Amino acid sequence: MKMNRETIEREYPNYRKYIRNVFEAGQARIFRWWDEIQPLEKEHLLEQIAPFDFQFIRKLFNASLRITHSFCGNLAPPEIIAVPGNAAEKKIVQKVEKIGKDSLRRGEVAVLTVAGGGGTRLGVDVPKGTLPIAPITRKSIFQLHAEKIQAVQKRYNIKIPWYIMTSENNDPVTRNFFQMHRFFGFDSQQICFFTQGMLPTLDLQGNLLMDSKSNIIMSPNGHGGAIIALKEKGVLDDMKSRGIKSIFYHQVDNVLIKIADPVFTGYHLRDRAEMSLKVVKKCHPEEKVGIIVVIDGRLHTIEYSELSREDMCAKNGNGTLKYNAGNIAVHMISLDFIEKVYREGEPLPYHAAVKKVPYIDENGKMINPEENNAIKFESFIFDLLKYVKKSVIMEVIREDEFSPVKNMEGENSPTTARQDMVNLFGRWLRNMGISIPTDSHGNVIGLIEISPCFALDEEELKDKIDKHLQFNGCLSL
Ligand code: UTP
Repeated sequence: MKMNRETIEREYPNYRKYIRNVFEAGQARIFRWWDEIQPLEKEHLLEQIAPFDFQFIRKLFNASLRITHSFCGNLAPPEIIAVPGNAAEKKIVQKVEKIGKDSLRRGEVAVLTVAGGGGTRLGVDVPKGTLPIAPITRKSIFQLHAEKIQAVQKRYNIKIPWYIMTSENNDPVTRNFFQMHRFFGFDSQQICFFTQGMLPTLDLQGNLLMDSKSNIIMSPNGHGGAIIALKEKGVLDDMKSRGIKSIFYHQVDNVLIKIADPVFTGYHLRDRAEMSLKVVKKCHPEEKVGIIVVIDGRLHTIEYSELSREDMCAKNGNGTLKYNAGNIAVHMISLDFIEKVYREGEPLPYHAAVKKVPYIDENGKMINPEENNAIKFESFIFDLLKYVKKSVIMEVIREDEFSPVKNMEGENSPTTARQDMVNLFGRWLRNMGISIPTDSHGNVIGLIEISPCFALDEEELKDKIDKHLQFNGCLSL
């Protein structure tokens, strides 16, 4: 039913300005069910629209129609610190690690976990961090991160502030989860939750999408939203008041993350870098991973699809891929750099993602679309790179440090994440001379789980394990 503007304005005169904005923006469809919904629902809808900047939303939509999958400028591979191969390189790593350890000991590093994403590809309605993921104990992803942080704290005799970015969609559930688990042994003051911004989701014609007669579908504004939220939610000030100088940034869904890695921290500090990155070699030229490149002298992450076929397959003299630095979204970011971006930079750009989003149609019927029907707008943390003058790009071994949970099945799923954990622990044990059987794909046959509280890394395991241990197919330490 078509709704009359004056009727709504008369009913809620305090919201006149916002109601007018909706009509002027051509979005009056959202009031289609006004006569059917209850006063509380009406207020909810009006509260939702009050902060909307319809001109900005229109601008985002128009820009999404002009998406180009290419870049301009001169392309070059970035300088990368390779995985150490010989004794001399390993010696450098030891020196650098000391710099990182000293900074950790001084309590200058905070951990930032971004966990505000909707996890649409995974398709579960709980926050990703709450997924039971550990191969044997089924501890959640959050618990594994928590145990890693605790192990680092114990090693350096410090307390690390842990900042967790959520979104309005998953904040209450995430906080409840931590409460239910008594903050995994942390003092509740040490964990700081903060929410990122939200933006409305549009249909392919630019209309606001709704999932009930009184609710506009809102989506978190991307992991780049962390940069705005750090300031707006007072997180940066909180970090400064605790003497933090740099942030170890990671995404919640990587189960192999080496939290607050002292070597990475050390390189970042040694080179006085502003924002540093870990990268892995691409599995094959077409792998769908963002890659780090230099364009006209500046670092960028570009999508694999933005590379020409020629660049995608280009090789170095030794036969390796020329553009081979897969971004795994693990960063060290200096607080000074973030403040410089606030002072001198422009807001991070928004990227449009076309997705399948359940919605209600004009008859109020819930539709689960089979085709992409919606546009979400997200900013990306790696767009900060264009402001970076000094950076360290450190290559790491994928099997040791990167296994994200993105999909329910197939690649990057809970199954692959568990197997990758088991394989990592299997390699640690095998390096100590313990026999661990594998199948033809190199996967461990059996289950192994090593709690970060027992051993955070291979070195620590070496000191604790009985070298005569016989693996009988299941080992939980
Ligand atoms: P992804 O881009 O993989 O998004 O986020 P996602 O929400 O986990 O999954 P899809 O794309 O909807 O299937 C990578 C990381 O960035 C965080 C996620 O929580 C994840 O840790 N993220 C993403 C945010 O914190 N906020 C966002 O708005 C988007």
